[in-house]
Amino acid sequence: MSENMYSRRKFIKKSSMTGLGSVLAVNMAPTILANCTASAETPAVLGGVPVRTREWPDWPQWNPEKDEPRVLEVLRGGIWSRDKVVSEFEKRWAGTIGTKRCLAVVNGTNALITSLVQMDIGGGDEVIVPPYTWISTIQAVLMAGAMPVFVDTDPDTFQIDAEKIEEKITPRTKAILPVHILGLPANMVKIMEIAKKHNLLVIEDACQAWLAEINHQKVGTFGNAGCYSFQTTKHLPLGEGGAIVSNDGEFMDRCYSYHNVGFPYGGVIGDVTAGSVMLATKLRITEYQAAVGLSLLENLEQETTTRNERAAYLKSQIEKIPGIVPYKLYDDVTRCAFHMFAFRYKAEDFKGLPRKDFLKALSAEGVPCSSGYTPYLNTQPYLEHAFQTKNFRKMYPKEMLDFKKYAAQNQCPENDQLCNEAVWIFQSLLLAGESDMDDIANAIDKIHRNAEKIKQSSKDA
Ligand SMILES: Cc1ncc(COP(=O)(O)O)c(C=O)c1O
Repeated sequence: MSENMYSRRKFIKKSSMTGLGSVLAVNMAPTILANCTASAETPAVLGGVPVRTREWPDWPQWNPEKDEPRVLEVLRGGIWSRDKVVSEFEKRWAGTIGTKRCLAVVNGTNALITSLVQMDIGGGDEVIVPPYTWISTIQAVLMAGAMPVFVDTDPDTFQIDAEKIEEKITPRTKAILPVHILGLPANMVKIMEIAKKHNLLVIEDACQAWLAEINHQKVGTFGNAGCYSFQTTKHLPLGEGGAIVSNDGEFMDRCYSYHNVGFPYGGVIGDVTAGSVMLATKLRITEYQAAVGLSLLENLEQETTTRNERAAYLKSQIEKIPGIVPYKLYDDVTRCAFHMFAFRYKAEDFKGLPRKDFLKALSAEGVPCSSGYTPYLNTQPYLEHAFQTKNFRKMYPKEMLDFKKYAAQNQCPENDQLCNEAVWIFQSLLLAGESDMDDIANAIDKIHRNAEKIKQSSKDA
């Protein structure tokens, strides 16, 4: 059976799974309850009563009374392409994050591409990236024409190991692209120190890290630009959407032009006489997406606080269970986004029960969960495909496009192991109450107590 199992839950079925990688989850129907002989101590996966039979909070959360008036106003007003509501959303997001400017674009992937291209990063350049991320981070670098250089993961924090960045810097290195993966801040203090020393640009992939903070400063504001995703599974969901934030006005003017077919910043949308001033594309979001964003932004602060409180409590409960190693945070982290609640699963402390059977058992107990990213993002075929394109062949010397050599130089063994040990619990579960977190902890503990039994039964199956 596949390690990634699929939930029948509405939020999972309805949302595009781009942000979740190879995710998700099972929330098995509690049919087992009908079995009167089932015992609460028997693992649900073996026919016992699940620890949890109630639903978890849905995602996205939509309150028609609060959230629909503005959207309906826009829809009925007939101005649907970029106009005042998008500008208002941008101002609000810049204000929330604490930067001078924000540009809304169609998704996080294109927020990254736009930032890279408008920092003049392209053919012949190298960009330092982590392997523990959603594919878009790396595709963005390739789309800009630059070469991704992988730095291994710090498995304790799930983030790029900043201590290993300097050894990967070459004369071609132009930028570092740290990702605040799972909504946990990367080690930005160290990364900015390295960037300064080597005169490198920094683009933060904060696509999973809305409102996360280091020393009370929002992530996405440490480097030259920060990028966000507002795709459906994300904490500020517009269906699809993204944003770039920065304090660099000239850079943001260029980004604006780039997202609007090269028309100068400040021009009126729909003015066909404006004249295009630069090579560009079109990445504008709609007015009704911005209206959704303005409404849901009102929830983000409180929801983030709740996720932080629940995660801290859940962590305190499960770290006592042998074989469960929750995420660690860098010392200066003051707030997380918790797109996922993540821990490492050590099978040796669960009588050798393989992770796929642990995930199946946890799902059966009523706790949706997943294995997260698959290993080898640093050596998958998309890279070789990019190297074979006409543009890459023109931009790089042959030896840099030798894929075997590239794969050997970009090994990330810590990351490979992490991908085989990680367990993710989706953010919306953290919006439940504190006692609901006990259900998760109790379910894990129950599996731990019954690990041998579950292992034997899956061997027999
Ligand atoms: C870390 C990371 N980077 C980039 C992206 C791309 O964002 P989008 O899906 O909005 O294009 C995502 C989205 O899942 C992400 O999680």
